Amino acid sequence: MTDKDLLGRHRAVLPDWLALYYRDPLEITHGEGRHVWDAAGNKYLDFFGGILTTMTAHALPEVTKAVSEQAGRIIHSSTLYLNRPMVELAERVAQLSGIPDARVFFTTSGTEANDTALMLATTYRRSNTILAMRNSYHGRSFSAVGITGNRGWSPTSLSPLQTLYVHGGVRTRGPYASLGDDEFIAACVDDLTDLLGHTRPPAALIAEPIQGVGGFTSPPDGLYAAFREVLAERGILWIADEVQTGWGRTGDHFWGWQAHASSGPPDILTFAKGIGNGMSIGGVVARAEIMNCLDANSISTFGGTQVTMAAGLANLSYLLEHDLQGNARRVGGLLIERLRAVAAQTPGVREVRGRGLMIGIELVKPGTDQADPDAASAVMEAAREGGLLLGKGGGHNTSALRVAPPLSLTVAEAEEGAAILENALRSIQ
Ligand SMILES: Cc1ncc(COP(=O)(O)O)c(C=O)c1O
Repeated sequence: MTDKDLLGRHRAVLPDWLALYYRDPLEITHGEGRHVWDAAGNKYLDFFGGILTTMTAHALPEVTKAVSEQAGRIIHSSTLYLNRPMVELAERVAQLSGIPDARVFFTTSGTEANDTALMLATTYRRSNTILAMRNSYHGRSFSAVGITGNRGWSPTSLSPLQTLYVHGGVRTRGPYASLGDDEFIAACVDDLTDLLGHTRPPAALIAEPIQGVGGFTSPPDGLYAAFREVLAERGILWIADEVQTGWGRTGDHFWGWQAHASSGPPDILTFAKGIGNGMSIGGVVARAEIMNCLDANSISTFGGTQVTMAAGLANLSYLLEHDLQGNARRVGGLLIERLRAVAAQTPGVREVRGRGLMIGIELVKPGTDQADPDAASAVMEAAREGGLLLGKGGGHNTSALRVAPPLSLTVAEAEEGAAILENALRSIQ
């Protein structure tokens, strides 16, 4: 049961647009591994990890220990002083990024990371034109909203940027949906090339390799490599927004861009969400010549703060030492297969998509292609009743369920979650 008093106080003091999940919203009081508990003592299997932020596990002892030991020494000193954990994490991220001569700048959120990437690209290229994907989401600030191709997350159309939206982030909807993969890529490339013939030279293309808020949609592998060739000929930069796809979540790759690797790494990469396993770390990686193009000071006061860097270092070591990318591939592969089998028996499921532990289930009115956000809400409620927390998304009226558990998910937990989800889907038919 919801704490009505807390809900009333929440509604009285926080903005109306700060949405809560569920008819009776939850207060999550603690977690362990892949489970969380609410204030009434109910236990849930967590398939959303606080919007993909608890990437490894709840209350992971290695991270908790690193945070508490660091907090006992110093929490924050600012970037005005040398900061050992920040240098160490930057070295590791630079090396993992695949970007040559990489420099790393830490922020406190994905939004701020993307803002930084936009500032770098627009300054470097002396252009305020940005190419972005339809159905994209890149954050909530004034500039990030200006490159977000999702009506539900665009509270204003005012923007410091001129944004042109490109086809291709959604494989199974839109004008090219009926084409085969190669033809789909060719059509998107033709569209991009044509668009570039009509505009002033853009600074960059920004894209999520798998769209997160958009409902875990993606293009065929190789689309961004094909785009890259067109862009590189014109000096246009490629920014990969890895805020949701980073650190092995997709199973097949450490970064989402690696599904589009034939033209090399992106010029700029942004990250956030999972790296701190719940601590607020965001950041940007770029080649030195791009990162260093600013000719004025720029700081993020809390970016790289010691306590979050300690969490990031402990979390990164854990996920590499325990091959959580491999776990995402194996357990995510089983889960996707299982959910596809359920979908085949469930008329309202249009598609089960994604890879690794990043799985979208799009719901439609049975027998039609019409998005069914009410069904998505009903499945969320039923799954919660069964003891499973899910996420929601999708540019088409949030009609996609989002499955993104911590990457340490076990096979038994995947089976348990799939069974609850199956019952929830059946219950609303
Ligand atoms: C792909 C992507 N980029 C950027 C952001 C913004 O990150 P934050 O909410 O940490 O500002 C998000 C958040 O959902 C995201 O999914």
